Amino acid sequence: MLESKKMRDGVYWVGANDWDRRMFDALIPLPDGTSYNAYLVQGKEKTALIDSVDPLFADVLMNHIKDVAKIDYVISNHAEQDHSGTIPAVLSKYPAAKVLTHPKGKTLLMSHLSIDEERIEVVEDGDTLDLGGRTLEFIFMPWVHWPETMVTYLVEDRILFSCDLFGSHLATSKLYSSKEEKVTEAIKRYYAEVMMPFRSLIRKHLAKLDNFDIEIIAPSHGPVHNEPEFVIKSHKEWVGEENKNIVVMPFISMHGSTLSMVDYLTDALSEEGVEVVRYDLTVTDAGRYAVSLVDAATIVVATPSFLTGAHPLVVSAAFLANALRPKLKHGVVIGSYGWGTRMADQITDLMKGLKLDMFDPVLIKGAPVKENFEALDALAATIKAKHVELGIV
Ligand SMILES: Cc1cc2nc3c(=O)[nH]c(=O)nc-3n(C[C@H](O)[C@H](O)[C@H](O)COP(=O)(O)O)c2cc1C
Ligand SMILES: [Fe+2]
Ligand SMILES: [Fe+2]
Repeated sequence: MLESKKMRDGVYWVGANDWDRRMFDALIPLPDGTSYNAYLVQGKEKTALIDSVDPLFADVLMNHIKDVAKIDYVISNHAEQDHSGTIPAVLSKYPAAKVLTHPKGKTLLMSHLSIDEERIEVVEDGDTLDLGGRTLEFIFMPWVHWPETMVTYLVEDRILFSCDLFGSHLATSKLYSSKEEKVTEAIKRYYAEVMMPFRSLIRKHLAKLDNFDIEIIAPSHGPVHNEPEFVIKSHKEWVGEENKNIVVMPFISMHGSTLSMVDYLTDALSEEGVEVVRYDLTVTDAGRYAVSLVDAATIVVATPSFLTGAHPLVVSAAFLANALRPKLKHGVVIGSYGWGTRMADQITDLMKGLKLDMFDPVLIKGAPVKENFEALDALAATIKAKHVELGIV
């Protein structure tokens, strides 16, 4: 084990940094790589490994634990392969080791990794495991972000091994996080992409965690949080219902007409005192777009018509917003068309899961003229008025 990755005597980070990975889920860019965190917890009698690493980094984990003679338990908090993928290799090296996991984790580990049923024991919510002077408590937290997710609390050391919850895609040589901007941005980005769809459940999970005295949060991606208050506080804000005075405006324009509308509306909203975050979807990183959705109040989807509907990149952005379930309250479709279009209905339908109060679309034929700009002025005033009603201006 690396001394620099020692959290307590007998408690070590034994994970792997993936410095150069640039995509996750074949969708989300990773500007700073990521890490797969595994932890070794040694009691006086027993030793547990908490999670493992992506199978591409099996050698790194194995090297960290090469001097560990005996592993009795592998705690699988989450069956996704970036954390479970090296469990089969660990079980081969330590033939007496048992996997402890959620009942749903058991079936997922069997179906995804062909782990033998006899090697897996299920735990129940609240169960504890005595390692000899160190106790692990298993706390079920379904849907952070799979149905089988659980977190593990090391009672004596007040360390919460939180699986993907509170994680960040950030490769770093440091063990502990800091409040620097890059770190807080990475934590928010991770929340936006992975956790936001389960916002209301996470709110309950966070309330449950209030009953635990937590000195350190050790997630399964990114740095460990030894000042966990700022991480917990920001998650509480993000899962709450309070919006910010922000309009998110994803857009596409092929020949400039929709772009003129976007430019005009950006200025009109700024004049009304509303912040605008714009994304040209030909160049936008989906992760940054997701971050903006975390606390924005309104989404303006701007698109030219393309083969009767909206532009395909805009369709994708609307679909993603709907899937991520942000706390947006209002929405509107604007854009330019040539002869006839169904794009406003299509986008409205794609985002119906968000239950937005949708304003009347502003659709114009060709390039915008004076009365179109007046319609955009009216839209900016309506958005401002709704933000005033929300009490966020
Ligand atoms: C590939 C392609 C497909 C189009 N399909 C439609 C369509 O189905 N219905 C329509 O009204 N206009 C259609 N148009 C016309 C554009 O929507 C129209 O020119 C619009 O003003 C372009 O806005 P922009 O300048 O923001 O790209 C299409 C244009 C292109 C290039
Ligand atoms: Fe995951
Ligand atoms: Fe993960």
